[in-house]
Amino acid sequence: MLYDAICQFFGHRKNGDAIVGALVLGLVCVASWLACHWFPGRAAFLLVAAMIATAMSANVFFWIIPGQKKVIRSIEAGEPVDPVHGFRGKQRSVHNTYFTLPVLFGMLSNHYGFLYQHKQNWLVLILMMFAGAAIRQFFVMRHGYKLGRNRHPAGYAAVGVAVIAGVVWWLAPAPTTATAPAAAASYATVRPVLEQRCYACHGAQVQMKNVRLDSPEALKQHAAAVYQQAVVQKTMPLNNSTGMTDAERALLGQWFQRGAPVN
Ligand code: HEC
Repeated sequence: MLYDAICQFFGHRKNGDAIVGALVLGLVCVASWLACHWFPGRAAFLLVAAMIATAMSANVFFWIIPGQKKVIRSIEAGEPVDPVHGFRGKQRSVHNTYFTLPVLFGMLSNHYGFLYQHKQNWLVLILMMFAGAAIRQFFVMRHGYKLGRNRHPAGYAAVGVAVIAGVVWWLAPAPTTATAPAAAASYATVRPVLEQRCYACHGAQVQMKNVRLDSPEALKQHAAAVYQQAVVQKTMPLNNSTGMTDAERALLGQWFQRGAPVN
């Protein structure tokens, strides 16, 4: 509703597009910050994406389609066409264009715990959405470039890629410092930890993401992923619902560094 109010209030003024663009950017930033402070990151990213996606759908159902119907009705009745419908419809579809990649990012982010679990996850969200909009701008203007309307827009793509590369560099996991006595890190000591912390979701009954960890062969197969998920990124156990301790993560890390023995 705030987005709609911004469009209605500023959309028709001089420099309306720029004002609306700046205000909507501010709105998405504030929403990201609030969502990430009120909810766990996994939910916050989805909520912000759902908020934008709702605005996209509302644009189509309340402005773009009804506007087209009014235009067609005027043409059929032989009356002069009010240009406001075309103007408004175009403005809203332009917004939808830039919303596309940010929404896609928010929807997929669910699978990438290192993004939404970061301490400054609100900033990660804003940067990734901004990169999506910049890359979208590249595609929009590339079309104009082919028609000879504007210069080649490689700069926008470069900005988007640079922002993503910056986020990759920023979020690269630091090496873990906790240690456990190397000799203790055998299959016999690791197995009870996995049984207690992981089997509930990766055992005989349930195999989340098709990962089973309750046999030596299966564990060997997933050893690298286990190390990544439970030691480096700490995204597993999911929301640490089984209460895994840092000492247990260190033990698992030692075990992996020793070549992940399973006998
Ligand atoms: C509460 C349930 C739950 C617990 C407990 C749990 N996991 Fe998971 N695990 C999941 C879910 C759900 C996924 C799929 C996540 C996704 O697709 O985003 C998953 C995925 C994985 C993956 C695959 C990741 C990938 O992207 O391919 C690995 C490896 C993994 N878990 C290891 C572990 C380890 C090791 C433990 C114990 C230390 C553990 N999990 C505990 C729910 C759980």
